[in-house]
Formats: sequence, C-alpha cells, structure tokens
Amino acid sequence: MLAGKKILVGITGSIAAYKSVYLVRLLIKAGAEVKVIMTPSAKDFVSPLTLSTLSRNPVIIDLFDEQSWANHVMLGRWADIMVIAPLSCNTLAKMANGLCDNLLLATYLSATCPVVVAPAMDEDMWHHPSTKANLVILESFGNHIIPVEKGDLASGLNGEGRMAEPEGIIEYITTNFFLTRPLDGKKALVTAGPTYEPIDPVRFIGNHSSGKMGIAIAKELYHRGAAVTLVMGPSQYEFSAEGIAVVRVKTADQMYKSCHDNYPESDLTVMAAAVADYTPVETADQKIKKKSDSLTITLSKTKDILKSLGEKKNSKQVLVGFALETNDEKKNALEKLAKKNADMIILNSMMDAGAGFGYDTNKITIFDKSGQEFSFDTKSKTDVAKDIVDTIIRLYYA
Ligand code: CTP
Repeated sequence: MLAGKKILVGITGSIAAYKSVYLVRLLIKAGAEVKVIMTPSAKDFVSPLTLSTLSRNPVIIDLFDEQSWANHVMLGRWADIMVIAPLSCNTLAKMANGLCDNLLLATYLSATCPVVVAPAMDEDMWHHPSTKANLVILESFGNHIIPVEKGDLASGLNGEGRMAEPEGIIEYITTNFFLTRPLDGKKALVTAGPTYEPIDPVRFIGNHSSGKMGIAIAKELYHRGAAVTLVMGPSQYEFSAEGIAVVRVKTADQMYKSCHDNYPESDLTVMAAAVADYTPVETADQKIKKKSDSLTITLSKTKDILKSLGEKKNSKQVLVGFALETNDEKKNALEKLAKKNADMIILNSMMDAGAGFGYDTNKITIFDKSGQEFSFDTKSKTDVAKDIVDTIIRLYYA
C-alpha cells in the first residue's frame, strides 16, 4: 500500500528522533520513496548520514547555503504526504503561528499534501494549555495529529507524551491515506482466541492462543471497509476498537452459537480461533477435591464450527479457516479445506520458527479451493493479516 508513495519525513529536535530512524527504515521496506528534512536542532539527536543512507536520498536541513537554495515549494508538492515525527513543542508552536525560520517550516507552509504530525514531549509540556491550544490550531488547518502514548519519558518520569511507535505511525498513514476500501458494504465475521472448557468452577481445558492473529485480521478487514463482528474467546487481551463489534465467549459451544447467530448476515468469515476439540462431558458444580491418586475426566467432541458453517455456506459467502499443524502440513491443510467446505485455508506450521501461539509473528501458506498456493515469509501478525486480507480481496472481491 505504501509502495511507490512519496513520503516527506520531517524530524525535529527531540529525543524521540531516534525512533524516526526506524520509521524511515520501515517506510523504505514498505516500498515508499522517502525524503527527510531535519530542523537544525534535530541533528543533535540523530545523524543526517544515518538518515540519508536509510532513505537513499540526501537529507535536507538548510533553506540555502552559499551555492544553492532548497526548493521547499517543490518538496511540498513532490510529496503524497508529509509526516513530522517527532513534532517538538517548539516546532508545534511555530507551525501554529506560521513562523518560518527553517526549511522544515518553509516546506510545511508550502505543502499541498496532507500533513500528519506525531508529537513528542514531556508530560507537563504536553498538558500545558499552550500545547493544547496549538494542537487545536493545527487541527483547524486540517493537519492530522497522531495521539501521543503513555510510558517512560526522557525526563525519567512516566506519563503521557511519548511519540507513537513507528509501526503505529505507518498504520495511521496507511489506514487514513493510502487504503482502498474494496470491502465497503460487506459484513465480516472473525473468530479469535482459545476456548475454555470448564472442568469445575476453578479449572478448565484451554490452549495457549492469544487471539492476536484474529484481532489483527478483524482490524485489517475493518480498515478495508467491512463491518466486522469479532467473536473472541477468553484471551488475556482486552480488545475494543472503533467499528468492530466484539462478542466475548468462553466455551466452544458459546462460540458455535454466536457464529451461527452472525453467519447468515456474513459475507466473509475468517475462523482464526483455536477452538477446543474436546470438552468435559460433565462440569462439577463444586471444586473437585484431591481424593484419589488419579483422576479421569471423560471428554466429548465439540462441534466443528467451521465445518458446520461450511455446510450452510451459500454461493455468495466466502469462508476461510486456519490449520495449525505439526506434521504433514500441506496434506492436512488441504484435507481441512475440502472436509470443511472452506474457500481458503491458512496453514501455520508449529515447526516454523516464529509461528504459532504466543508469538507476535507468524508464517503462513494460503491454499485456496481452486488449487492455488501462496507462501509468505515470517512477518508480524499485523503484516500477516494484511497478506491474508489482500489475498482474500484479490481472489474474491477484486
Ligand atoms: N475449528 C472450528 N471448530 C472446532 C475446531 C476447529 O471451527 N471445534 C476451526 C478452527 O477455527 C480453524 C479450523 O477449524 O479455522 C482448523 O482447526 P484445527 O485446530 O487446525 O483443526 P481441527 O479441525 O480441530 O483438526 P485437528 O485438531 O485434528 O488438526
């Protein structure tokens, strides 16, 4: 989505400038064309040499030197977007008041592209009325402000004022400026997390699924225009997001019911949950006491939600499942694709480094029912979700 986009990164004098090095690196990795402008004081925090090497372009700092004049008007017109990160309190005040004593400010004033800022400052400065007033002025100019985060600050204090993380800045600009919304008007149903099958009031059978993969898919589908319902098992993560209706369930049976309630309306369903395959036949009303040397719990099979949805699927619905395998990965994934009447199966192999439960990364291969196979490298779960949704859109909604 960022491939070929022209991005002007403005860096001001702030400790958070070290994160901009990584921001530039990520933008280049995503295929963007990047030019960096620094304020003179930003040079005290990060080196222009590092940034010019990473951006593959000379870093521009001065309005003019003895030989030449930097064409700030053309820079502002060249860019598809200008991202000022970090935005210091000082530059914020100057932008709000139209001051123009360096190249970054001159470019900002002549930019015809959208301008996004990621402020960074200490908590007290962040809460000062002049900062708030200046941010309101920037918003009134149509500039976009990426909220600061809470955490450790350069002062040694902990509070609000940290610049958003580079990944968050990329997500913000991608989502707000460069995404097409091919799923506008579509309804999506996503499952995430484990299920817990109760043994007694204090014990359950569960698994290590964190729900992160399903959450990332739900977010990505929403960003592409879908109205999303996320049915989520008892993950340790609290999750709520604008535009995503979250239904919390505990057991496989509750997940089954919620999925069937939502399925008739759903155009696209992605089953990322790690549903328990077996559940205790009986749940004790009271805590089971430690009496005998061994304990046998009889389990019965849970309903296969994906398979039951596959049996109901109509010709307009798209159904996507996962296959978590440790051996004979491709064969098992293809069997699940057929047995569950899915349109697509996403294989994660527990044998791949960085894939499976608990990791922030995943490695997938997608199989579709027409026999196509798409393999991807190990990536963050956010990027894996993009690959999955891109593939779904390409095959079914392009
Ligand atoms: N699934 C489901 N209901 C179940 C079990 C699994 O909907 N009771 C879904 C999962 O959400 C996933 C797909 O089926 O999309 C495959 O899950 P997986 O655990 O890999 O396979 P199983 O069908 O459970 O088979 P096995 O455990 O024998 O590999």
